[in-house]
Parts: sequence; C-alpha cells; structure tokens
Amino acid sequence: MIEGRAEITSKKERNKAEIYDMAHLRSPHNKILEVKKLPTLPKIAYRLLDLLSGEPDVNELEEIIRYDQALTSKILAVANSAYISSQKEINTLERAIVLLGFREVSEIAFSICVFSVFKPLKSVRNFDVKEFWLHAIATGITARVIAQALDVEDEEFFFTLGLLHDIGRLLLLHLFPERFEEILAQQEKSGRQLLAEEMEAGLAHTWMGRWLLKRWGLPEKFVLVARFHHNPFYKEKFLFEPAVIKLADLIVHNLRLARLPGGQTGEPGPLLLKLGLSEDLYQTIIEHLSFVKESISEAWSNVI
Ligand SMILES: [Fe+2]
Ligand SMILES: [Fe+2]
Repeated sequence: MIEGRAEITSKKERNKAEIYDMAHLRSPHNKILEVKKLPTLPKIAYRLLDLLSGEPDVNELEEIIRYDQALTSKILAVANSAYISSQKEINTLERAIVLLGFREVSEIAFSICVFSVFKPLKSVRNFDVKEFWLHAIATGITARVIAQALDVEDEEFFFTLGLLHDIGRLLLLHLFPERFEEILAQQEKSGRQLLAEEMEAGLAHTWMGRWLLKRWGLPEKFVLVARFHHNPFYKEKFLFEPAVIKLADLIVHNLRLARLPGGQTGEPGPLLLKLGLSEDLYQTIIEHLSFVKESISEAWSNVI
C-alpha cells in the first residue's frame, strides 16, 4: 500500500460527511428528494459483489450464474472477444473461469447485471447510453490497472468502483429525461463540463450517484467515489479511491475511449504526485490502454 493514503475512516469523520451531504440534499434546488421510486439492483449482483470482496470461490460463482442462461451467454460473448485475446473458443462457463480467471468472470457478470437495471433507457441527443457504458467499463479497467500499478491491498474493488462512478447520470436520465436533455443542450452551448451544468440545475450526477448507491446499500467506498470522483478532497483530506477513479476518468476522456460530452479534463500531473504514481508507470498505463482501446468496445458492444 502506498504511503500517505488518507481516507475518511473514523466514525466521527463519516458522521460529519453524512451531515454535510444531508445539508446539500435538503437544498431547495435539489429535486431528487421528491423521488420515491428507484431502480433496484438484482440480488445476484449483491452476491457477486460479496464474492468479489471475499476469497475466490469458483463453486459459488458457478452456482450463482449457472441457472441464468441469458447471463451465461452474455458472459461467453464477452469472454470470446478479442479483448480477452484467447485463441481457443470458450463455450462453457467452467472454461471461461479456467481461461480468464475467477475475478475477470465475476466482474463481467457483475457488469452485465448492472446494465440490466437501466436496460429500458433510451439514448437522447448528445447522450448515448452505449457510449456511457463503454465509458464506465473503460474507467473500471483503467482504475484496475492503476490500482495494480500502485500495488494497493484491495485492488479487487477498483473495476466495480470505476464501473459505477457515474451511475448518477443514468439515474438522471431515468428520473428526469427532459431536464437532462436541457442540461445537455446547455452544455453544448457553453462547452463547460457537464457537471457544472448539472449543478446549476440542482441535479449533479455526483449527488444522484451517491444517493442511489447508498440506497442500494453498497459499501461506503462506492458512495464516496460517486460523490467525490471529480474532486477527491473532503475538508482538505485526500480521498484515495475517488482520486484513483478521477485519474482513470481523466485518462479515459483524454484517450477518447468513449464519446461522451463535457467529461473531466486537465493535466494528470498533480494527481500522479498525490497518488505516488511515477511518470514512467503512468506512460506504461497509457500505452497499454491505447493498445487495448479498440478491443474494449468490440468486446462489450454486443451486451450493452
Ligand atoms: Fe463523473
Ligand atoms: Fe466519468
């Protein structure tokens, strides 16, 4: 684990963060409190997340997926893509686990479950749902690579943290489609970051995401990433996981791994310094991602 890592760990700090968040949620500009009905996360996704955070258990993974034919065939579709770069055809779940590994298959399965939650959503002008998911997956893959480079203890979380970091945007599209289209149109005019326009409308995706993931009962790390991935500081405290996701997000936008409007921009220099990631390692990450860029969309476009 790198030195200088600081998180909100104490109960007191967490309570303070909660009070701060609630004050904002009660703002008259914030419309999300008016909403009662929320999309729910399938039970299978919780089981997969539990599995990902514990010791690898292949039998349990097979047990969870085996009876869901649609899920199995989607996992095999991703597994057989060029991204995985296996020479042999993978036609069973067991074979996928042997060739790709327990973690990779669990992450693919978890992603497919999350896609299904928002499946009926249609793209609107300037916001393509497929591109959104490509952005989410690419951020997850990039975050995992950064976590490996930093040699963090709990690197197994970083793909899923990246996958869900912008989930507030889908909730925005789901709950307030017309308002979201107006926000997007405003962003097109101003050329500012989409978050700036969302904040002016009282519908920041960071708050929406934080709120949804809290309702879903996901671990605190997910809630903090959703809330702080554009500015990984809380009362001048540096938040490690949101910072990794911010760096991943920046890389994904800079490499144009997905086409979404008004994403994070800027130089990664100060973040690299804070995270303790050397320029050489950063360049290696960029080269790797540039190399796999095309295959990420090829692998996933049939299931999103
Ligand atoms: Fe974001
Ligand atoms: Fe993002």
